[in-house]
Amino acid sequence: MKQKITLPSGFSFDGTNMLGEGRITEQELHQLAPRIACAAAAVDDIRRTGKARNHFSKDGNPEPVYFPRLPYPGDHSPNTPELLDQLKAFGESVRQNEDAVIFCGVGGSYLGGKVLYDCASSEFWPHRCDQLPSIFFSGNNVDSEDMTEIREWLEVLARNKKPLKVLLVPISKSGTTMETTTAFLYFYEYLSRHSDRFEVHGAVVTDNLMESGPLNRLAWKFGWPMFDVPVGIGGRFSVLSTPGMVVGAVLGLDLPELLRGARDMDEACRSGDIETNPALFNATLKYVSAASHGATIEVIMPYAMRLKALGEWYVQLLAESLGKRKNREGETVFYGRTPVVAIGTTDMHAQTQMHQEGRRDKVVQFLFVESWKGKLTVHNPFPEIAEYRGYEGLDAANALQAAMEANEEALSSDNRLNALYTLPELSEYTLGQLFYFLMLSIAYEGELADVDAYDQPGVEIYKKIMKAKLKR
Ligand code: PA5
Repeated sequence: MKQKITLPSGFSFDGTNMLGEGRITEQELHQLAPRIACAAAAVDDIRRTGKARNHFSKDGNPEPVYFPRLPYPGDHSPNTPELLDQLKAFGESVRQNEDAVIFCGVGGSYLGGKVLYDCASSEFWPHRCDQLPSIFFSGNNVDSEDMTEIREWLEVLARNKKPLKVLLVPISKSGTTMETTTAFLYFYEYLSRHSDRFEVHGAVVTDNLMESGPLNRLAWKFGWPMFDVPVGIGGRFSVLSTPGMVVGAVLGLDLPELLRGARDMDEACRSGDIETNPALFNATLKYVSAASHGATIEVIMPYAMRLKALGEWYVQLLAESLGKRKNREGETVFYGRTPVVAIGTTDMHAQTQMHQEGRRDKVVQFLFVESWKGKLTVHNPFPEIAEYRGYEGLDAANALQAAMEANEEALSSDNRLNALYTLPELSEYTLGQLFYFLMLSIAYEGELADVDAYDQPGVEIYKKIMKAKLKR
């Protein structure tokens, strides 16, 4: 069977090292054919109806699932052409008028935007925006050191420009999340108290339906721009919606291009055939690795420093979507894989020993960006040192690829499961493809495992305990 699927854009998913004797066999996949067909049909149903079987909100009400509509701006989508225009205009105005921006958010209201920020600040990003305000992320923890450090940075910036115009952007669907609220209140109070040095502005990203929510009330009161976190878009599926795109807009990213990438991926993932649908193929291999090959851990290993945030975004997507005690029939299944982020080559010097010789409970998922090759060449200023001679003319990304291939080969030589995603380059288009591919893979796997990929009942337990502890 075909083991690698390459799309016209150059994006590929290579499952070769997952398959074969001592790994996942073609016979296993054949036996699973009816279940794969049902999973494909179930995701098609979600695309068409916006409903996922047996999915309810935490209040027990039926809740739509609209992430597959995000790539198609229009009447039936949470994304509309008007929204894209508003976001573009907002981004332009922020870049013209603000000196600093603090995005306050956590979980799904932070992780996707951070990926966009990390990627777009790359030297090798195709069209970088020169005139950016200083950008900070806070509220992704309640870390007083971190908040103090941002405040000190703002003070340094305010030495050269008075008043320093600072835009606070709380991103919170509920509007009441503890970490986000702490950061927002801290900075708002501090900056307004020092109005000799700072001018504070606001813009909110929250659920418009909650008219009485705190962020909605503040936005009305102060006339701040407001962006809706739409119904049917859970935090971990929201990077292609307002929580992620508001960050992209400020960075000057081409948001229609991000959605075009997602749309092309959606169209490439329509069939019920694992030999042509890369997300279904990925989901099937991961499902079989977990269900029959003991893979309780998935290591996501981009070979790129700045894709660490992508790994962290994927951690939430995998953990919250598939880590479930019960299946949709109410039976106890304890499904899921523990996600772990590793960065190549860095973690080859830290984790690879465990991947290569530890318990056979992992699947290692590599990610590589092709276009970085040929961008940075090393020269050796010390020809007299024999050990350095081989470094003359070394292409850094070729070295990175050689390291990754060595890692793949070493793992495969011991039948350790591993697979590879390749992006032709890092751009809005390819990121849109990758985000959507990963969300769709998780949606398919939820169907294969028969778990609700869209709820997170487990997080309510600590939230209740924490609420009681914080009561004043
Ligand atoms: O996936 C989720 O639902 C969570 O990670 C939320 O995004 C996170 O808790 C933040 O919630 P809110 O946007 O309501 O502040």
